[in-house]
Amino acid sequence: MMKNITADFPILRTKAHNHRLIYLDSAATAQKPQVVIDTVNDLHATCNANIHRGIHYLAEQTTLRYEKARERVCDFINGGDACQIVFTSGATASINLVASSFGEKFIGCGDNVIISQAEHHSNIVPWQMIAERKGAQIRVLPFTDEGRIEVEKLDGLIDEHTKMVAITQASNVLGTMPDIGQITEIVHNRGVPVLVDGCQGIVHAPTDVRALDVDFYCFSGHKLYAPTGIGVLYGKQKWLEQMPPYMGGGDMVETVSLTKGTTYAGLPLKFEAGTANFTGAIALSRAIEYVKELGEDAHNYTAKLNNAFAQMLQERIEGVRIYGVQPHKTPLTSFTIEGTHPMDIAMIVDKLGVAIRSGTHCAQPVMTHYGVTSMCRASFAPYNTEQDVEEAIAAIERAAKMLR
Ligand SMILES: Cc1ncc(COP(=O)(O)O)c(C=O)c1O
Repeated sequence: MMKNITADFPILRTKAHNHRLIYLDSAATAQKPQVVIDTVNDLHATCNANIHRGIHYLAEQTTLRYEKARERVCDFINGGDACQIVFTSGATASINLVASSFGEKFIGCGDNVIISQAEHHSNIVPWQMIAERKGAQIRVLPFTDEGRIEVEKLDGLIDEHTKMVAITQASNVLGTMPDIGQITEIVHNRGVPVLVDGCQGIVHAPTDVRALDVDFYCFSGHKLYAPTGIGVLYGKQKWLEQMPPYMGGGDMVETVSLTKGTTYAGLPLKFEAGTANFTGAIALSRAIEYVKELGEDAHNYTAKLNNAFAQMLQERIEGVRIYGVQPHKTPLTSFTIEGTHPMDIAMIVDKLGVAIRSGTHCAQPVMTHYGVTSMCRASFAPYNTEQDVEEAIAAIERAAKMLR
């Protein structure tokens, strides 16, 4: 039984347009519990100095906590040696790092990279950019109308020129979660590495990167109750060691000489140029502790809320169409209502205090598949309640009536 944790999130006391805020946009970014807010404030008040450089007390304390955060993140995803954890500014930065650096080393003219049709733009565009630079090709693994990624077609897409399969752990529109273990098995049998975009997956499913045998895994802290501007890239040491640095600057070097050139630091610092977001990393490790305290109950609870929402939507609102796997594997529901525009629905319910997302959800190929230009999306977190579901449905019902 999930205890009510709404009080842990001060932002939920906000009045939006004079209504109680009902926040159903956690798939875009999650709200922050007081313990994470306190951690950030406390760090600025007690533990702030540039890491890995100074030998003074504060520098050492901050460095220790930053490296401890790396170990905690590593344990959370069972990443093995913490040198395989690179802190970045977010999943987008992580994928760009791999596409650019791995691509620089391993992708050549005539090669190809396979992505799925259900990817967020963050797992499409970096691959398109490197493909364009190198004269490589992007191949696309399709999904069915039910939103199921057709993993059985993967083997047929791979050939001797395939250099990477980059795929999402969970679609941010469809709630689809392909079987990553099955994918790595198929792909590794053909000698190709796999990158998994864990942005939506890690929030709703315990993830063991070594059991799944992924080569690269990334996520953003802000969707996991941590601040913005901190993200994670896990990469197998054997790959990271062979990849050239992505950005140059302080902290990622061993020696710099204006005459003899530069030698680079070992892992993971080779990929952490400049002053790292140590505050964000330490706050992320606190957020992870919070997630662990919530435990499995949180996943069952949010699934229940989302299923209730989807069912009420279908029962009470005429002309509704829900996209993707049902019941959804992650707690979100993307939908349209016949005769109305998603933007209008979202705008009206916002005036009633209900925050839902509308638009392309940074996944235009998904919109194209269904022949729509945008969708509404409600996404749930453990701080939502059954009352949120009921009031959101009532607001959507009212908006749909006004618009028809
Ligand atoms: C599946 C997925 N991948 C990647 C991203 C990009 O995350 P960020 O903007 O935090 O880098 C998101 C964010 O919505 C996402 O849902």
